[in-house]
Amino acid sequence: MNTKIVLLLVLSLVPFLCFCIETDTITSNISISDPDTIISGGRIFKLGFFSPENTTDRYLGVFYNVSQETVIWIANRDRPLNDSSGTVTISRNGNLVLLNGRNETLWSTNVTGASPRNTNAQIQDSGNLVLRDTSTGSIIWESFWQPSDTFLPAMRITDNINTNIKVGLSAWTNGSDPQQGSFTSGLEALNIPQIIIWNNGRPHWRSGPWNGQILIGVPDMYSPYLDGFSVVNDHTGTFYFTAPEGAFLMRITLNSTGSLVQTLWNDQHGNWDIVWVAPQNECDDYGACGPFGSCSIRDSPICSCISGFEPVNREEWESGNWTSGCARRRQLQCNLGNNTRGNGDGFLRLQFTKVPDFAEQFQSRRPDVCRTRCLSNCSCIAYAHDPNIGCMSWSEHLIDVQRFNGVGVDLYIRLENSELDNHRDRKLVIIIPVVVGFTAICIAILITWCWIVKRKGKRIAIEKDRKVFEAGLAFSSNSSAIVLRDENEKVMIEELPLFTFGTLSRSTDKFHENNLLGKGGFGSVYKGNLANGNEIAVKRLSAASGQGNEEFMNEVVVISKLQHRNLVRLLGCCVEGEEKMLIYEYMPNKSLDGCLFDPNHPSQKILDWRKRFNIIEGIGRGLLYLHKDSRLKIIHRDLKPSNVLLDEDWNPKISDFGMARIFGGNEDHGNTARVVGTYGYMAPEYAMEGRFSEKSDVYSFGVLLLEIVSGKRNTHYYNHGLSLSLLGWAWKLWNEENGLDFVDQTIESSNFKGEIVRCIHIALLCVQEFPNDRPAIQTVLSMLSREILDLPRPEQPVFAEKWNSSHVGTGTTQRSSQVGESNEITITMLDGR
Ligand SMILES: *[C@@H]1O[C@H](CO)[C@@H](O)[C@H](O)[C@H]1NC(C)=O
Ligand SMILES: *[C@@H]1O[C@H](CO)[C@@H](O)[C@H](O)[C@H]1NC(C)=O
Ligand SMILES: *[C@@H]1O[C@H](CO)[C@@H](O)[C@H](O)[C@H]1NC(C)=O
Ligand SMILES: *[C@@H]1O[C@H](CO)[C@@H](O)[C@H](O)[C@H]1NC(C)=O
Ligand SMILES: *[C@@H]1O[C@H](CO)[C@@H](O)[C@H](O)[C@H]1NC(C)=O
Ligand SMILES: *[C@@H]1O[C@H](CO)[C@@H](O)[C@H](O)[C@H]1NC(C)=O
Ligand SMILES: *[C@@H]1O[C@H](CO)[C@@H](O)[C@H](O)[C@H]1NC(C)=O
Ligand SMILES: *[C@@H]1O[C@H](CO)[C@@H](O)[C@H](O)[C@H]1NC(C)=O
Ligand SMILES: *[C@@H]1O[C@H](CO)[C@@H](O)[C@H](O)[C@H]1NC(C)=O
Ligand SMILES: *[C@@H]1O[C@H](CO)[C@@H](O)[C@H](O)[C@H]1NC(C)=O
Ligand SMILES: *[C@@H]1O[C@H](CO)[C@@H](O)[C@H](O)[C@H]1NC(C)=O
Repeated sequence: MNTKIVLLLVLSLVPFLCFCIETDTITSNISISDPDTIISGGRIFKLGFFSPENTTDRYLGVFYNVSQETVIWIANRDRPLNDSSGTVTISRNGNLVLLNGRNETLWSTNVTGASPRNTNAQIQDSGNLVLRDTSTGSIIWESFWQPSDTFLPAMRITDNINTNIKVGLSAWTNGSDPQQGSFTSGLEALNIPQIIIWNNGRPHWRSGPWNGQILIGVPDMYSPYLDGFSVVNDHTGTFYFTAPEGAFLMRITLNSTGSLVQTLWNDQHGNWDIVWVAPQNECDDYGACGPFGSCSIRDSPICSCISGFEPVNREEWESGNWTSGCARRRQLQCNLGNNTRGNGDGFLRLQFTKVPDFAEQFQSRRPDVCRTRCLSNCSCIAYAHDPNIGCMSWSEHLIDVQRFNGVGVDLYIRLENSELDNHRDRKLVIIIPVVVGFTAICIAILITWCWIVKRKGKRIAIEKDRKVFEAGLAFSSNSSAIVLRDENEKVMIEELPLFTFGTLSRSTDKFHENNLLGKGGFGSVYKGNLANGNEIAVKRLSAASGQGNEEFMNEVVVISKLQHRNLVRLLGCCVEGEEKMLIYEYMPNKSLDGCLFDPNHPSQKILDWRKRFNIIEGIGRGLLYLHKDSRLKIIHRDLKPSNVLLDEDWNPKISDFGMARIFGGNEDHGNTARVVGTYGYMAPEYAMEGRFSEKSDVYSFGVLLLEIVSGKRNTHYYNHGLSLSLLGWAWKLWNEENGLDFVDQTIESSNFKGEIVRCIHIALLCVQEFPNDRPAIQTVLSMLSREILDLPRPEQPVFAEKWNSSHVGTGTTQRSSQVGESNEITITMLDGR
């Protein structure tokens, strides 16, 4: 008894005494024996022997230097050593092998055809153990190809849809037995990629589809700061889920009870902070409410049948056994063979859902196309639309539907018409007058517009042949091509100079790579030289890009109405066939993005504090003009460094109005089901709930301000205690009165200390959680110019707090609870812009 305890003590102390060999590589000359370890170049990971809790069995594994009990990979999971006689070496056939005291091979990399003199195994700073052929330098095996229970940045969780071969995580049996247990987790790429946890092969939890930015069934991902994960299709049928390597220690572990747990190393406290867990509650269990059931953690009982459906077995259902789910009350007209285009059926809208499993995808940018397609196919029983995925549709059954609070997708469920009417009446009372009113206004506008056009003797259609003139000749940099028009007069595209495709192609040397200024989400920007020597910037919207006609016209209309020295000037446009282009004044110093964040950019040193402050004020004035001074109220919605251009005198000009929203007199905030913008710059209420206002631009301005001061991107992480985002980092240092530590070293100067710290203070006021707490942009400008001297104390920004482990999983709910039910109607109405 006592000897066992002593043995345990000795064994558990072993990793803490340094038996490490100062190398990161095992060669045929260098092998390691228990308890030796090797350590990676940056001293982050070690390869060596360990014993799990409550056992004396020895395993070969990879663990962290800072936390040696945290094992991320195990070689001999199934065949432990019963003593400390283990040796790792390169075998005669070139494999990395684990031998016991009797020279029996317990584990091998099993690669065939390698030669011993030419292979070595290296433990890398990423945690990867790599077997290389040194004669060619090629990798012949790596531990990331055979993950244990832990996902690390740079690792790939893969699925090949042709061969159905998956590489994922598999949990331990229990805390003291690393053998493969019942839970596994990986990527399911067929149809729309999603992450799944399986329990003995049956789904246990599901992330919902990947939409190109986030997993739409994971509420926490709607937060801007879980950025960085991606799902990639390598075009050979293999999809993989991965995360970029950062300056912090992050891991996601599938623990033995089937939970994915994401943790970050906390240097200060020397422990792992939990930042995310799945599943989080009973509703997250796969199919908790059976087919056609819907789960909501805020309701009691949590399960209910989707309306139009009733429990299959009422007794069972009421006793809390929901597994057999619900069934349709009235058959769909379609299924009764009454297929007059399915017009006996309609759709019920469920807001804020985790969409069911087994979605089929159809790419379309327009929600109404999804509806029409679904209605015309009798197998289609539900559809949903996500701007990045397009249409999703379902046939057969709906399983694993969950209702979230404030985030998620709208799900439309097909029901027989009479089922709908019961539930519709109340809403119709509201919707009909709104729709009628809206239509009437549209018609009135259309008529007025036609009348104005007619009076001017113009035709509505753009007549390219007659109207297009060689704008390159007509335009001179002094001519003011854009005249600010009367507010109620519609801007017509003909009023803008139209450039021909030929002119633009010539001026950019057929859109040659050398003239490429940058690539955005919506297309590429080229530098052009007109025949008269003027320089222009041509934004060519790719046909396949996100910016469709809608955004294009929106941008043209918005920007042609604006004139301010801190807004980029639109000189004209070009619409020919598939081609859509916008022509702007050329900005020799390009975007703030490159100047601030590219360490090799020559202008990094030019941007001293005076210039940066001037840029901050300029952006503020541009924003003030958008919000207040122009006759329309305009909310930019996508303010970020790449959308701020710099002219030859380093004056900032805001650009890219593709997402801007114009408001009439009394409206001052909006709501949208289509959240567009860039994670990292979006205010929480916009990212999570789609609500935006001037204050969401103020939030983005605050983030921008912090980036300008620190010279670092918000999407970069830090490993200083709890704070991970730039906001959290700023908050922490400012509170510790260490504001200057936050500042970009190239501008650090005691002359401006007060002013710089004041800027951080103002930025923190801008990024407060509640829109009402944030100052309006004119107040921000007064604060910057010291017209207002005393600054209030900012509240802690919400995304700094999120990382505090006591807030796991509750953040979303708290933040969303202000939405209430009120927005059910406004969302759709406004979305039809
Ligand atoms: C092994 O060590 C010997 C001498 O210590 C050295 O000459 C030889 O190159 C080494 N072989 C490898 C593969 O490193
Ligand atoms: C690795 O661990 C050792 C012992 O725990 C420690 O002294 C050393 O500083 C660590 N190295 C790094 C880079 O953390
Ligand atoms: C370890 O296991 C081997 C069989 O694999 C056995 O012969 C040996 O006695 C065991 N050693 C100890 C210390 O239990
Ligand atoms: C194991 O192999 C090594 C090297 O080949 C040899 O020196 C050692 O004696 C062997 N041990 C046993 C128990 O066979
Ligand atoms: C190597 O091959 C053996 C026998 O086929 C197998 O039992 C073992 O699991 C394989 N090891 C690895 C790491 O693939
Ligand atoms: C862990 O699982 C093994 C079987 O795989 C079992 O023998 C052992 O008792 C379990 N330990 C605990 C602590 O549950
Ligand atoms: C190890 O044993 C102790 C005491 O029996 C127990 O409390 C603990 O949970 C065990 N740890 C694991 C991982 O099984
Ligand atoms: C797995 O993680 C969940 C969530 O953090 C936790 O509740 C559970 O106790 C963990 N299981 C084990 C075996 O640690
Ligand atoms: C729930 O109902 C299903 C189907 O009738 C049955 O197989 C299962 O055993 C029931 N579960 C419980 C916990 O009663
Ligand atoms: C089809 O539906 C129409 C009205 O919806 C109804 O009048 C007609 O009888 C139906 N036909 C069949 C075959 O069910
Ligand atoms: C209707 O939908 C089903 C299931 O999605 C699909 O297999 C079938 O091809 C569709 N039929 C038509 C005519 O589009």
